[in-house]
Amino acid sequence: MEIDVRADRKLRGSAAAQAAFGPLVEALCGSDADLTRTRVVCDWIQYRNNFRDTAMVRPLLPATQIAAAPAAPREPVVDGYELAVDLRRCALPGADVAAEVTEALADASPAAAGIGGLGGAAGDRVWLESWVPGSASCVWQFNALYWQALAAWEKTTGKEYEQALPGGESDARNSAAARDLILDLFKIWDELANRRALPEELYVLELGVGNGAQARTWLDEFTELDRRHGRDYYRRLHYLMGDYSAHVLDRAREAVAHHGDHVSGLVLEATRLSGSVGFLSGKTFLVYISNVYDNLPSDEMAVILGRIYLVQVRSFIGGAAADEIAATFGVPRAEIASLVSRLLRIGPELLSESVPGTFPDTERAVLFWQSAWAALRQAERYVPLQGLDTYQVTPSLTGEILRPLLAAEGDVRMHVSNGTLSSFADTLPLLHPYGRVVCHDLFTTDSGQYRTGFYGPGKYDGSTVNWVNGPLLQLFASRRGFDVSFAPFKERPGATIKTLTAQVRD
Ligand SMILES: C[S@@+](CC[C@H](N)C(=O)[O-])C[C@H]1O[C@@H](n2cnc3c(N)ncnc32)[C@H](O)[C@@H]1O
Repeated sequence: MEIDVRADRKLRGSAAAQAAFGPLVEALCGSDADLTRTRVVCDWIQYRNNFRDTAMVRPLLPATQIAAAPAAPREPVVDGYELAVDLRRCALPGADVAAEVTEALADASPAAAGIGGLGGAAGDRVWLESWVPGSASCVWQFNALYWQALAAWEKTTGKEYEQALPGGESDARNSAAARDLILDLFKIWDELANRRALPEELYVLELGVGNGAQARTWLDEFTELDRRHGRDYYRRLHYLMGDYSAHVLDRAREAVAHHGDHVSGLVLEATRLSGSVGFLSGKTFLVYISNVYDNLPSDEMAVILGRIYLVQVRSFIGGAAADEIAATFGVPRAEIASLVSRLLRIGPELLSESVPGTFPDTERAVLFWQSAWAALRQAERYVPLQGLDTYQVTPSLTGEILRPLLAAEGDVRMHVSNGTLSSFADTLPLLHPYGRVVCHDLFTTDSGQYRTGFYGPGKYDGSTVNWVNGPLLQLFASRRGFDVSFAPFKERPGATIKTLTAQVRD
């Protein structure tokens, strides 16, 4: 048995986490799990709200399982198991590590047969979906619903979404960061203007606008700096705000109403830009993004004992939580999954209209949404890939791009950042030859980080967060003639947020 601890710094700092190993090993030895085929991975999950139980079991499926028809009952159905443990929760006062591990291991017992196991004692679950890669999970429908129905969500919490971000406020409102960007733009525009090469229209595109604070900060700073600079660039400026939530865009429009027709709002899908903003191709001087890439769907890939696996997930609500939801809302437990699915399709307002007996008003439907989201967990399993080229990162990019990153780290699990790569791939062609993408977000900047830390998914209020695989973006961009660099967010150098800059290679 191998124990992989991906939380060394946190482990050194926590006597309670160190003490968890005794009960953990004891519970493993006391179970009937096949220890020769079990590995243990210990993370420190910094997100208080996330999709995992304190301990969970992830089956490793054999290659034949995928190609062949469903296995006969007595065939071996898994190649092994990974027991995943959250050391942070193991270290909480009152945590019963042995009980958590024993309960999770029931999924690895011979009795938990069926493809991928998970039919054991811990299998008392209300499943919300079938097995899918992470990027296709219903958590992304929850995420989209959060932004579409933000007003209704915030009404019941009494808090704005920004308060759920680390630091309680988005770095998008940082005036000094906006000023630096604008002054850099002025330099480029002055040089182009001096060569009579500056286009009449000066385009800036922002993706994922939230409450419009970033746009307002940037535009307010722009008008002030332009007045001092004296070249009348504001007159030529078009600031386009793109978001997939019409509601969010309305809010953002209000925030920048004083900039009149210098600003336009566009409903768009950030992962498919060519249709909506293709007209900006080669013309955009700045694509400005903050806290959006970490909010786009991602798969995860793992190398275990040298073999490459895709992580599949399956969302569920645990038995006890499901009973509580059923009792609170007066619905049979068997109906929870279909109510969640209807909520995700039509939103809380229409859900309340369609089932008024259960949800007499929107607020009650929102409370159901929040309870289901809080209770939502994901089971995980590892499905071997026949070859990286059989896996699509995006419709036009195969998994081959991951090979150097996976090969460099031995056994590792990392994000594929599919949504970000799709968005980024569609963004680069929009840039003017002197344009750039500037993005403040959560990035890993070295593949080795995945061996020592946890980078999502986590829950922020009603949305999902995954760090973005920075080295993968760099690799992708370099193959298209662009440089990508990462720098600490200048105004908060100690923060986890980094600034990505992408521009045509010199
Ligand atoms: C965390 S907020 C960030 C808002 C703002 N940029 C900030 O930093 O405060 C994420 C924003 O991205 C938008 N968004 C998320 N996924 C999107 C997608 N696939 N297409 C377009 N917009 C998306 C959300 O609606 C929301 O406005």
